[in-house]
Amino acid sequence: MKGIVLSGGSGTRLYPMTRAANKQLLPVYNKPMVYYPLSTLMLAGCREILLVVNPHDVESYRRLFADGRQWGLEISYAVQPKPGGIAEVFLLGRAFIGKDRFGLILGDNLFYGDSLPAVAERGATGKGAVVYAYWVSDPAAYGVVEFDAHGRPVSIVEKPKQPKSNWAVTGLYFYDADVCDVAAQIPRSARGELEISDVNAHYLRQGRLTVERLGRGYAWLDTGTPSSLLRAAQFVETVEDRQGLQIGSPEEVAWRKGYIDDAGLARLIEPIRESEYGKYLQRLLARG
Ligand code: G1P
Repeated sequence: MKGIVLSGGSGTRLYPMTRAANKQLLPVYNKPMVYYPLSTLMLAGCREILLVVNPHDVESYRRLFADGRQWGLEISYAVQPKPGGIAEVFLLGRAFIGKDRFGLILGDNLFYGDSLPAVAERGATGKGAVVYAYWVSDPAAYGVVEFDAHGRPVSIVEKPKQPKSNWAVTGLYFYDADVCDVAAQIPRSARGELEISDVNAHYLRQGRLTVERLGRGYAWLDTGTPSSLLRAAQFVETVEDRQGLQIGSPEEVAWRKGYIDDAGLARLIEPIRESEYGKYLQRLLARG
């Protein structure tokens, strides 16, 4: 399965943290932010990954991920010359997508929940477009989906002034390869971007959109402002400290899913044995 991680953008709401550093490389507690969404895609079964990044960040991402082989992945890179909207990735990633169904995740989205792998796998094996909705207190900051009395989606609007519901569209999506043609057709929005909500609305009009609601047992966290970034870090710290289990570790997911074996994990641990992260991975390996 293929997956795209969108890790571009300018992160203006986090300025000056993002003046010299890419937003999705900032830490959420003990890992770079992008580890969390990458792990989510891996849990959905994606192993062939395209990372879409800003031109000046390519080298940093290569230092972080290389070609992904160490985690049993195949990672390649595409450059988004300037922020032009999420749906631009379908144009930039056309060659990567080819004729295949794939997942897309935003590099600043953090998902947590016991059944997440199963939920994401349903998107991966589904038809048309599959997106996920999450009840939030501030829907106007997101794409908002309205449902009819039967729970069927009837509209999707990007950052509406008067939201029709509290259901925000999250940053995890699955599409068939037709999405590249859809993205090529839609006009740019008033802010000059190719909006993902317009793509989803197109699938909705065609009757080819599935919206799966993530219930209250999930956490979908925002990292877009200084305080939401801090709250996300506190959430991760709270759960990890309580359980002694980490959230969003690509090494752990790769090992548990059998993308790498014990020897592969041991090789990854070697250079980082002294770090807390390295010690965590050692404990996993020792427990078997
Ligand atoms: C983007 C999408 C929006 C979605 C959100 C999820 O908004 O445009 O539809 O709800 O991601 O994180 P942005 O964060 O780029 O403003």
